[in-house]
Amino acid sequence: MKYVIRGNKPLYGDVKISGFKNAAASILPGLILVNGVCRIENVPDIDDVRLTFQIMKKLGAKIRSIATDIVEADSTGISCLSVPYELGCLMRASHFFLGSLLGRFGQAAVPLPGGCDLGTRPIDQHLKGFEAMGAKVQVKDGFVYASVPHGSRLKGANIRFDMVTVGATMNLMLAATLADGITVLENAAKEPHIVDLAAFLNAMGGDVQGAGTNLIKIRGVRSLHGGTYSLIPDQIEAGTYMAAVAAAGGEVRLTNVIPRHLDCISSKLREMNVEILESESSILVRRLGSLRPADIVTMPYPGFPTDMQPQMASVLCLAEGTSQITEAIWEDRFRYAKELCRMGARITVNGRQAVIHGVPKLTGANVTACDLRAGAAMIIAGLAAEGITEVGEIHYIERGYQNLTEKLAGLGADIRMEQ
Ligand code: EPU
Repeated sequence: MKYVIRGNKPLYGDVKISGFKNAAASILPGLILVNGVCRIENVPDIDDVRLTFQIMKKLGAKIRSIATDIVEADSTGISCLSVPYELGCLMRASHFFLGSLLGRFGQAAVPLPGGCDLGTRPIDQHLKGFEAMGAKVQVKDGFVYASVPHGSRLKGANIRFDMVTVGATMNLMLAATLADGITVLENAAKEPHIVDLAAFLNAMGGDVQGAGTNLIKIRGVRSLHGGTYSLIPDQIEAGTYMAAVAAAGGEVRLTNVIPRHLDCISSKLREMNVEILESESSILVRRLGSLRPADIVTMPYPGFPTDMQPQMASVLCLAEGTSQITEAIWEDRFRYAKELCRMGARITVNGRQAVIHGVPKLTGANVTACDLRAGAAMIIAGLAAEGITEVGEIHYIERGYQNLTEKLAGLGADIRMEQ
């Protein structure tokens, strides 16, 4: 399958942002901790979420769809503590089943995670944390096996991460929620979805304090009860539409957003001559005139999100002047640059830095989505480019963006999916 885009058309209208993929990534596996029925709202309808529910069903959970974005999950009858290889290896977030299965049942087997290829993606900090809590961890035959002695629970521990890691922070929060005693996570990540995970766990009877700071304290409880929880909106999906308006021009209102989560993206776009007007749960994005260049350095939250770096590069290709992007999180996140160059962009990559010399226009070409956000960058470039752009390998994009073609077509874009 591919996306075919006839570009050079400004975008106008309203678009509703879906629930946050990366919050769903840990909160849905977190449902395994709950001995009861939970109703989760604002769930994004994307491939990664469908895969997560498939895994949960295999483990013995009952999943019932109430509406497109509302799901009911009952984890009382979990009977299998091993994530099937053929499902788990397909996405990164499968490693969160380690924290939740180990936390509730003291035992878990999960395939080493897959996901976007952004360079090496070790999970040593996750495993080090489980071991500090008393688990025996073994990596064998493509699986991680973790267990505590029969009849016992994980034990609270002080864990200091060697680097700021979103995934390990969330995985240890999951594991510590039902542990015996207090767990303290130092040098914790502060992303909005970490605060969201803490709010979910607390809503179900957990005791997590300090999420959103670099010190999180989790007092283990005996069990979690059912309840209702609504996921936060997807700041990266929102940022992607903001970048699309910046590149293609026009005026778009994004609804179902938390503007404060977008501060970093908004201020960078303002620097580039894009007007952003915020209200309580929506923002208006309007491209004012020609784009100004800008420098971006990706950082853990509240810094500029690495997951918006490729999309911003597409915008900067069209700025009047030279911009520089420094990628501080992932070792190999510029593979999309050569694809943009096929469309007439002028980008030089040197290690973790890219220098972008703005060009007056991009032209349509056949390009490939190297990963999820790289794919979003191709679409943004295609929307702004003259002529027709075909984007291949779109399974990466379908993993993380709900109804992308429908949402963009609703804004007047000429985009369709083809065989
Ligand atoms: N790291 C280690 N060891 C670990 C864990 C991380 O060395 O045990 C390193 C990584 O190699 C990386 C840095 O620490 O250099 C940060 O990694 P982090 O753990 O924060 O990333 P992640 O949890 O694997 C999530 C998102 C990514 C997003 C990053 C950073 C999910 C499923 N993935 O990955 O999202 O880029 O946080 O914000 O939530 C995307 O959505 O396109 C995406 C790739």
